[in-house]
Amino acid sequence: MEKFVVHGPCTLKGEVTISGAKNAAVAILPATLLVKGKCHLENVPDISDIRAYYEILQSLGSKITFINKNEVIIDNTNVNSAIASYELTSKFRASYYLLGALLGRFDKVQISLPGGCNLGARPIDQHIKAFEKLGATVEVKSGNVYATRKEKLKGAPIFLDVVSVGATMNAILAATLAEGTTVIENVAKEPHIVDLANFLNSMGAKIKGAGTDSIRITGVSSLSQKSSYSIIPDQIETGTFMVAAAVTKGDVLIKNCIPKHMEPVTAKLIEAGATVEEFESSIRVSMNRKPSAFSLKTMPYPGFPTDMQPQMSILLCVCDGTGMIVENIWESRFQYTDELAKMGADISAHGTTAIIKGVDKLYAAPVKSHDLRAGAAMIIAGLVAEGDTEVYDISHILRGYEDICLKFSKLGANIEYVNDDTNEVNSCD
Ligand code: EPU
Repeated sequence: MEKFVVHGPCTLKGEVTISGAKNAAVAILPATLLVKGKCHLENVPDISDIRAYYEILQSLGSKITFINKNEVIIDNTNVNSAIASYELTSKFRASYYLLGALLGRFDKVQISLPGGCNLGARPIDQHIKAFEKLGATVEVKSGNVYATRKEKLKGAPIFLDVVSVGATMNAILAATLAEGTTVIENVAKEPHIVDLANFLNSMGAKIKGAGTDSIRITGVSSLSQKSSYSIIPDQIETGTFMVAAAVTKGDVLIKNCIPKHMEPVTAKLIEAGATVEEFESSIRVSMNRKPSAFSLKTMPYPGFPTDMQPQMSILLCVCDGTGMIVENIWESRFQYTDELAKMGADISAHGTTAIIKGVDKLYAAPVKSHDLRAGAAMIIAGLVAEGDTEVYDISHILRGYEDICLKFSKLGANIEYVNDDTNEVNSCD
């Protein structure tokens, strides 16, 4: 069994460089399918979700050439199938972007119902609604999603009932090569939505308004890439290191990030007592006292990101006073709180609310990664806890954090990757 062992406590000091954004890359890789030619991508994170995407693209006929582990050329000239393997697409959530991208190019698309982190119900009704508005027929049966169209998709008005990152991205993908104009209202505004639109526009798409409540897409007949595209830095990886720096009373310069994307996290860290200095493409976070209690509610961007709430909860676990977290996006995102209770946290979660009373210390315990961000939170808890925290189910963490063990280790954490089956112990330095 694989695990990380974190020998705590420690104080993080030094510099860390942020990788490309997972949630932008998982949309941009399938978006390359809209081009009957080559796309050159830089700053692609080397994480297991992206490796899974490469495998899917190759199975459809893409040729992928690696310049290095973060830079690739994807040649989709010979893609001739839009039937994606059940085994490959059921592994993770973002495989649903294949629907929008492949519908732009083929008249029959099949993928499995998407998998991914267990955060509660994860319907795709809004994705389906968008495809149907554009003229496709969508059927879900026997664990698969089948989308078909008799003719080219046709631009249409689309109003999303809920603000959904995935449905917004999929509607953009499907509408890019549709005939006529599509206006999508009540859209998500996350930085990765803007990055997808920028990528497509850089190849000739006509997408306006990404980052606002309404996106207008004038369909074009084809796309072609003229120069390479660099994916934005990962907002959530940045936030994870910001919190880790603050909670360990450290001093860390976080490089290759976009401070504007971090505003909700920065505001909460300042409220907790951290010092946050913003530079053009880096952020320095330091802290020299016990965190003050705070409350937060997760909201779509530019609100506080749900993908940062498990990490922020560690600050509250050791804060002065009592804080509260309200989760408004995912119904089952507090499963990780049982793991923190094993470490001595005073935490109670009911429904969408968790109340956390700060304690003097956390103590090491064997803990599970319930999902990607909860797993990152367990590592941060291990960094402040007394003793050796064993973090299990780390495949969740490896889905979304490039070189996480190495990056923490370079900041002074004593953390090891251990594989009990092969007796491998890697001190990650
Ligand atoms: N929703 C619907 N119907 C839909 C789609 C969504 O009711 O058709 C609901 C969901 O149940 C949820 C809300 O709308 O309550 C928002 O879901 P959204 O569609 O925005 O989430 P997603 O696209 O499935 C992405 C990220 C998640 C992140 C959420 C929210 C990717 C691949 N995943 O998921 O990231 O939590 O947006 O920001 O982009 C992570 O990276 O750890 C992660 C879970």
